[in-house]
Amino acid sequence: MRQTIQPNKTLIVDGPASVQLITGKAEVFGSPFKELQRAVVREGKRTPFFVSETAVFEVVLGANAAMQEMEGNTVPESWNKPIQTVLSLEKKPVVILILGASDTGKSSFCTYMVNKMVEAKRRVAVLDGDLGQSDIGPCASVGYAVTAKPVGELYDLRYQNGYFIGVTSPSAAGSKTLEGLAAMMNEAIQRQADSILVNTDGFVIGNDAIRYKLNLIKELKPDVVVGVQIQNELEELMSYLGGGGVLTVEPSHALNRRTPEKRKILREMTYAKYLRNSKLQCYPLSQLTVEPRNAVPKTQKPEKGVLVGLYGRGSRFLGVGILRAINPDRRTLKVQTAVITKPHRLIIGKVFLNLKLQETQD
Ligand SMILES: Nc1ncnc2c1ncn2[C@@H]1O[C@H](COP(=O)(O)OP(=O)(O)OP(=O)(O)O)[C@@H](O)[C@H]1O
Ligand SMILES: [Mg+2]
Repeated sequence: MRQTIQPNKTLIVDGPASVQLITGKAEVFGSPFKELQRAVVREGKRTPFFVSETAVFEVVLGANAAMQEMEGNTVPESWNKPIQTVLSLEKKPVVILILGASDTGKSSFCTYMVNKMVEAKRRVAVLDGDLGQSDIGPCASVGYAVTAKPVGELYDLRYQNGYFIGVTSPSAAGSKTLEGLAAMMNEAIQRQADSILVNTDGFVIGNDAIRYKLNLIKELKPDVVVGVQIQNELEELMSYLGGGGVLTVEPSHALNRRTPEKRKILREMTYAKYLRNSKLQCYPLSQLTVEPRNAVPKTQKPEKGVLVGLYGRGSRFLGVGILRAINPDRRTLKVQTAVITKPHRLIIGKVFLNLKLQETQD
């Protein structure tokens, strides 16, 4: 259906939907949305198209999708302040850490920041430290991407490398997540990024969450910390930081909260993305190091597959797979994966996926 939007208004689309700009001028989180460009808004996601010159959109809405028009720009003005701060720093690379509870707009703020940094000719690396709602790489892993071009959504960035954690919450694997992020950070530095943006999970309240975030800050030593805060949920955590370089921004008034079911669907989309064109591969246990040692289950039902991380020689992450079967007599593992290189190391995770790639309980 055609939708005409006047300048200084925003077309908000809740997926699943597809949107094409027929004429006019618009932007998505600061990234130019050009004439004839098309965007896919995934289920569980909301995309704002801010119009600067009268725009005609062709919108196709899927099941339960919706759209609405809002006055002005849904990106708060306050989001520009940390960007100006970062752009004024001479240091290279500048490391920026984003904090915020779940569904506060961390990924959206990151996207906006990437676009503004790129506009200022910076090469930006984005490290995704959110295991449960990953934008880059599959959930249950950390990963990074590098870009010099604007992007409508972090999910569209090209995944450079990852580090398999095996769980979707850092409360169960804090030190491993820190180890992974530190490794990704070193790689991003080697790739000569001007700015390194670190997105984090929404675990910010309570002693464990605060301890984990403080360890993360100690490990990654950010120059600037930006908290996206709705009320005062970050106060305690931020009170331990103090000093310069710590900024708080408000969330968008167009924030869209997701149900646990929608969050599960979004996680499953990330597994499906990295298991596209997957096949069953048979790996002899004699040619593979399995971690944790002795974690190979005695039996394995295909419909209760276990997410695994596959590594080549050294620390090269090849991708994820799902352990579907075990043959104890032949001592082989059957793994559903899109990885074609022979793995040397297989790490067993704690996420269970059925044959439709839906998460199931243990
Ligand atoms: N400025 C904005 N304009 C319009 N919609 C927005 C804006 N900021 C956030 N949203 C919407 O609100 C929802 C939550 O935002 P986002 O995914 O960025 O939050 P998050 O903190 O990264 O969430 P999670 O904890 O799941 O990772 C998204 O659907 C997003 O599109
Ligand atoms: Mg996010």
